[in-house]
Amino acid sequence: MNPKVAGRQARLLAMLQRNDEIRVGRERDCPLSLAQLQSLGEGHPAVIALHDGGLSAQVFHLKVEGHHWCLKRRRAVSRVANPDGQTAFLTELERRREIEALRELHPTLLPNVVCTSFGSARAGILLSPWLRGEPVRTLCERNLAQMLAAEAELARWGWFDWDPSPGNLLDDGQQISLFDFGYTWPFDPRFEFNSNGLCDPEFHVVERLETRTLSGLWLDEVNPLAQFACWRRLTLAWAEQELARLSREGACAPVLARLEGLAGEWRTALSGEEALAANWLKDMYRSHRLDVLDDLGGKSCGPLTLRRLDWLEHALRHLYEELAEGAQLGGMSQSQLLEELARWREQARAWQLSPAPA
Ligand SMILES: Nc1ncnc2c1ncn2[C@@H]1O[C@H](COP(=O)(O)OP(=O)(O)OP(=O)(O)O)[C@@H](O)[C@H]1O
Ligand SMILES: [Mg+2]
Repeated sequence: MNPKVAGRQARLLAMLQRNDEIRVGRERDCPLSLAQLQSLGEGHPAVIALHDGGLSAQVFHLKVEGHHWCLKRRRAVSRVANPDGQTAFLTELERRREIEALRELHPTLLPNVVCTSFGSARAGILLSPWLRGEPVRTLCERNLAQMLAAEAELARWGWFDWDPSPGNLLDDGQQISLFDFGYTWPFDPRFEFNSNGLCDPEFHVVERLETRTLSGLWLDEVNPLAQFACWRRLTLAWAEQELARLSREGACAPVLARLEGLAGEWRTALSGEEALAANWLKDMYRSHRLDVLDDLGGKSCGPLTLRRLDWLEHALRHLYEELAEGAQLGGMSQSQLLEELARWREQARAWQLSPAPA
């Protein structure tokens, strides 16, 4: 395994075992006592709603003296069965602490990232103002541009978010906000591709949004290519800006070469309808596969996992030649790939998440 990832997981698992404290903010800023926040249930008069669908935490919407709060409380056992899932709450506390430290120095940065009022690893709670909005369900030019800008700003300051899923992108109809950093780890954007260092160039801000959110939502779009064209214009502009900035900041050759490669690919995609369709097929094939593998890895599959498998099967059966031209099939034949998909489907059926326990 990548030593950077192994080191990070070992460090966080040891912290979890030792019950180490990570504290953010001040306890006296909490609207209720710590003991109340730790024990309150759905019936408490301050609770407006309980969001029980999260994998590593329960989220309560509270209203106290006219103010709306979000109380995130760690589950005793994370519902994601891997080290990153088990340590997601600690990871989030570390990121929240770093984000608040940056904001102390530069109060206007990251305007669309939630503030942390209080957090404690030992108490298992994280308290923030309640943000207006709903998880993103439909896409438009505005929210596409905003989710890219928000994730790009995080990455620019050295935090790579592996999980910009629809449930982690709140949209109030005017603005996208970010608030879940359970799978966000630090990196140096001048010398690393992402928080795995220089090992995995295929993972970047644009790929993560395509894999976690866009590819899934585009399964429901009648004409996704029109939105995809708009997205590619945005991502090309991002790559060009990043290239200019990172060159000024003395980024290393592999980082610049990767960005140049992406910009080139996306420029070609925007050169005509056929090129756009080819780029769509290549990147959606990659994203659906990555997301299915991620769900299987965490044994956390759902109906969307099965729909992604349907898309992949359809693409392999009907567009195999075109896919092979994109040269990303790892030398596997059509029948081998279909057999692999059948195995994944069996696992995905076995690992469908049941609803959260009460
Ligand atoms: N500050 C906030 N304001 C408003 N809503 C919030 C806030 N924080 C979380 N939520 C809501 O609660 C849901 C779960 O929160 P969050 O994603 O932080 O928990 P989680 O347990 O990490 O979930 P998952 O593991 O599914 O990503 C979000 O999808 C969002 O709808
Ligand atoms: Mg979440």
